[in-house]
Amino acid sequence: MQVAVERVVETLRGVPPPQFGPQEICARLQGMLLDPGTLAPYLHFAPRRYTRNLIYRDDLFELIALCWEPHSESPIHNHAGQLCWLSIQRGGLRLENFLSLDGPGPGENIRLVPNGGIPRAGPGCLDLQQGDNAIHRVANPFDERAVSLHVYSRPFDTCIYYDLEAQTAREMRLQYHSIGGGICREEQLQ
Ligand code: SIN
Repeated sequence: MQVAVERVVETLRGVPPPQFGPQEICARLQGMLLDPGTLAPYLHFAPRRYTRNLIYRDDLFELIALCWEPHSESPIHNHAGQLCWLSIQRGGLRLENFLSLDGPGPGENIRLVPNGGIPRAGPGCLDLQQGDNAIHRVANPFDERAVSLHVYSRPFDTCIYYDLEAQTAREMRLQYHSIGGGICREEQLQ
């Protein structure tokens, strides 16, 4: 069954703050597929990159649609101690997890090692990142566009990104490509 995006916002807004955690939200998002017509106004693609499109935000959570061009990827990054649910809606994404041997950073000499993942996760797949040391990279190495829906709680505007070779961890500002369906800026993702 497909769900309207407005219905997802309503459902998440109905979750009391103390229950807004892995168990409750996973139960609501597991296997969920959105009605593509209701998601369409929020989908904006940009050449050779991924875009972050804000659907809804309050103090407790933000709901974002990410649009992935073929062969685009996020930097390796953490989630600033917040919870992140990622639900794939269209196409396929490669999900890679990393473990830091030297804490989350920021700083120098931060060594990361691979820590599992999914080579190709498809529509309906739900991934959860949680904890200070949750570090991952999301990529669309495939030939078709992909769309994923992300819930972040609490909302966050900065995180740390990692350079595997240089072994550095730096703060990065997160920006939206569109808000409520309207394009707001061409953001710099790295
Ligand atoms: C992002 O929010 O920009 C990256 C995607 C993710 O970490 O889930």
